[in-house]
Amino acid sequence: MKILRTATSLILTVWMGCTALPDQTASRSGEVLIVYSGNALGELKPCGCDKEEDQGGIERRMSYLKQMMPQEPNTLLVDLGDNFKGSTRQGKLKAQTMMQALGRMNYDAITLGDKDLLYGNGFLSSIQNIPWVAANLQLEGLALPPSRIKVLANGLKVWVTAVADPDLFYASSDSNVKLSDPLAALQQQLEAARKSASPDLVVVLTHMPRDKGMRFLDVPGVDIVINGHIEKDSDIIDMTPVEKGGKIFVAPGPLGQKMGELRVRINPDGEKTFQQKMVRLGSKAPLDPEMTQLYDAYNAKVEELFMATLAAKRKQKQNRVYATDQTCLTCHAKEHDLWSKTGHSRAYTALQEVNKSFDPECLVCHTTGFGKPGGFISEIDTPKLINVQCEICHGVRLEHAQNPQGGFAGEARAACGKCHVKKHSPKFNFSQYWLRIRH
Ligand code: HEC
Ligand code: HEC
Ligand code: HEC
Ligand code: HEC
Repeated sequence: MKILRTATSLILTVWMGCTALPDQTASRSGEVLIVYSGNALGELKPCGCDKEEDQGGIERRMSYLKQMMPQEPNTLLVDLGDNFKGSTRQGKLKAQTMMQALGRMNYDAITLGDKDLLYGNGFLSSIQNIPWVAANLQLEGLALPPSRIKVLANGLKVWVTAVADPDLFYASSDSNVKLSDPLAALQQQLEAARKSASPDLVVVLTHMPRDKGMRFLDVPGVDIVINGHIEKDSDIIDMTPVEKGGKIFVAPGPLGQKMGELRVRINPDGEKTFQQKMVRLGSKAPLDPEMTQLYDAYNAKVEELFMATLAAKRKQKQNRVYATDQTCLTCHAKEHDLWSKTGHSRAYTALQEVNKSFDPECLVCHTTGFGKPGGFISEIDTPKLINVQCEICHGVRLEHAQNPQGGFAGEARAACGKCHVKKHSPKFNFSQYWLRIRH
């Protein structure tokens, strides 16, 4: 049986290559693999702060795709949007790199999330090779096909459309963006598809809060709903699939850490069965060299940007704010010795080791006072403010160092939560962690 099926699909592939679509009356049973991603929020590469959270990134995603695609000829690859994060210059560099990466990954359909409009229409239209799809979203200067159809090697026709929740976009109130009612737009597209394409599988990409997206399963004719949307990187996203009357709802997780795989089997009577799993792009996943090159180019631009901002910072007069650990050492030798044996005293080295000691997104937690008056600027300008020093937890204590008085020790416990947040230190627990740095 297995051999026979392989042979048939091979013949079909060859045959399709030289003529038009396969015969409409042919048996439309077979298998489709839908691979889905989304909610990446500019996460080109995980920071590596925590082993468990060290998942995802464009390098691992590409190596997964390059390995998987040749084995799975009947695949539909889709992305659910929200690929950008903050509207900063660095954020824009990330967005550019992210879109370049997606452009090389051979996606079949990519939808726009509310976060993807952060840099405006001009930015989006400057990006090439993106198979956008959007049924109820119109952007000035960017053509957005309302649906796409893919004829797989096995002859199955998969039809994809995308609808977004207008409420999410009104929050960003951009006058160059027009949204219409998602349900009406979907029904209109479905009607057109039924007449012209007679698809075997109807996939709707929704960009909405989970509950709203799930409601689109009830629309007659829809087989699969895949929903994306993320507000911030600490969001917990429910990836559990929901099956309902021969249909299924699935959602990608946060930050591009995992790839969703939904295997759909269509029986000769048209009945569909589903098998879903999330593939973790963990630290053992290989890094794709093409994407590493892209990432390194991004990183070099981040360094350039950092160097350019130094000039301006150097012009500003810096008053001394922090006493620095070397001053504390003069009276608290025992505490200093214990501190110097902890990771806090090597936090900056950890950045140097991964070629990140110029990235503001890392420096905030791995130095003393980066971005604050009198705080870390660069290792050349402020060599005494590298690492997570005493004054991070005990507060600025220049005055205390000159005229020692007590009464503030208890405040230090509250500091941990500024850096030991879920994304960077998911296992943080004060009593256990304090034991490891106690002094
Ligand atoms: C919100 C604060 C925060 C930010 C931002 C941050 N880190 Fe971290 N980082 C931490 C914390 C906290 C730990 C320790 C985690 C633990 O052990 O639970 C850590 C640990 C690390 C480690 C492991 C150090 C070791 O010796 O094991 C590396 C490497 C690292 N971070 C790199 C980075 C890079 C690169 C960036 C920027 C892309 C970054 N960090 C951004 C807080 C942060
Ligand atoms: C000139 C000596 C001296 C220097 C320098 C100094 N301290 Fe102290 N520190 C003291 C003395 C003395 C006490 C005890 C004060 C008391 O209990 O009244 C103290 C107490 C403390 C306490 C306990 C406070 C409490 O509520 O009991 C902390 C925390 C502390 N110092 C942190 C620091 C830090 C951080 C630095 C560096 C920025 C620093 N000290 C620099 C002498 C110094
Ligand atoms: C990561 C945060 C952190 C860093 C960094 C840190 N401390 Fe502390 N320190 C604490 C906490 C928490 C306590 C305990 C406060 C309490 O009793 O609740 C403490 C207690 C102390 C005390 C009071 C000890 C006692 O029981 O009287 C001194 C003195 C002190 N630290 C000095 C230092 C010095 C000097 C450095 C730098 C060499 C330093 N600390 C670095 C968090 C930190
Ligand atoms: C300014 C950000 C920051 C604050 C505040 C902070 N940490 Fe950390 N912490 C880090 C970073 C960065 C690392 C990783 C350093 C490395 O290993 O390179 C780390 C690592 C650690 C580690 C693992 C390293 C080791 O030596 O075991 C422990 C434990 C820890 N922190 C406890 C605490 C506790 C407890 C507090 C609060 C009292 C605290 N930290 C406050 C940034 C911070």
